[in-house]
Amino acid sequence: MAYAALRSIGAYVPEKVLTNEDLTKLVDTSDEWITKRTGIKERRIAAKDMHTSDLGVEAAKKAIERSGIDPQEIDLVVCATISPDYFNMPSTATIISKKLGLKNVTAFDISAACTGFIYVLSIAKAFIESGMKKNVLIIGAEKLSAITDYTDRGTCILFGDGAGAAIVSATDDKSEAIIDIHTAADGTYADLLMTPNGGTGSPHDALEGEAQGCFMQMKGNETFKVAVRTLTKDVVDILENNNISSDAIDHFVPHQANYRIIKAVGDALKMKPEQIVLTVDKYGNTSGASIPMAINDIYEKGELKPGELLLLDAFGGGLTWGSALVPFSPLKK
Ligand code: ACO
Repeated sequence: MAYAALRSIGAYVPEKVLTNEDLTKLVDTSDEWITKRTGIKERRIAAKDMHTSDLGVEAAKKAIERSGIDPQEIDLVVCATISPDYFNMPSTATIISKKLGLKNVTAFDISAACTGFIYVLSIAKAFIESGMKKNVLIIGAEKLSAITDYTDRGTCILFGDGAGAAIVSATDDKSEAIIDIHTAADGTYADLLMTPNGGTGSPHDALEGEAQGCFMQMKGNETFKVAVRTLTKDVVDILENNNISSDAIDHFVPHQANYRIIKAVGDALKMKPEQIVLTVDKYGNTSGASIPMAINDIYEKGELKPGELLLLDAFGGGLTWGSALVPFSPLKK
């Protein structure tokens, strides 16, 4: 049986910075409120002519180059995004494949909001373990600024743009393999976080005069409570199910939505601060891109070593959530 190994990581963030101070000019808020309630200080915003696929391409180039794998050996590309270049077709994954010159791929997008990267990781693992694919490029890419309502202080302070990517490849060596991934969803909470217009769920005439329906809307406080409850159980379960103690985790990489959610889950696991990867202060919430961007952050700082064990967790619209136990297994040179 083939196993699936995380070979490389890459990320890209746009240059333009939107600070908390900048947001005080748009809505009734303050740096103090945003910092205290979320931990966010600034986020990145992509240029008008830069699409989600462009962000994804830049992240993917780094992941491919670092993997040491011939790009033409990539046989599957999956992109997690809620801000695709086009809502119906073509998929952002096919556009990214074309821009990268990949010729021998299956390509598609998935929509699982902030849990997107854990979902694409599970798809890569399943395709590889079944023997259907060997080298999978997974991407989380978001231009959330395009679907953010900058008159709504409850959401516009949270979100930013960016992309992360990884190569997951087949291996015979079980010690390199992704240990476990858990994914879940509960549509009972669908209305907590949504972009209500633009699909068949809302009739076309509802769009008229209601541009705001194309932006993200969130019942933040209710979402917060479900997030803490669900994530805490999920990470405890995945560790227990695999007989792994939290001490054995080298890097806990949670979805970067809100420092208070990260702290609550980290405390429940008795994680030491040095185990917890934090980028929420500088990038805000980049949905499906946030986990690979955070892994890339420690990789580029030289803090992620081959063989080290990552615990990932995420929670987002759907509602969806999930966690994963993943050793970092670059190809031995
Ligand atoms: N500046 C100042 N005041 C504000 C702001 C702001 N930006 N936003 C809200 N407030 C006010 C509210 O109006 C409210 O005032 P009131 O008490 O007079 O009514 C007060 O602050 C408290 O509001 P809450 O919504 O209860 O604040 P909370 O502490 O819950 O923080 C937040 C809001 C940051 C959105 C938090 O609820 C959160 O992080 N929620 C979870 C987000 C999340 O994880 N989403 C899932 C992933 S996203 C995805 O999938 C795309």
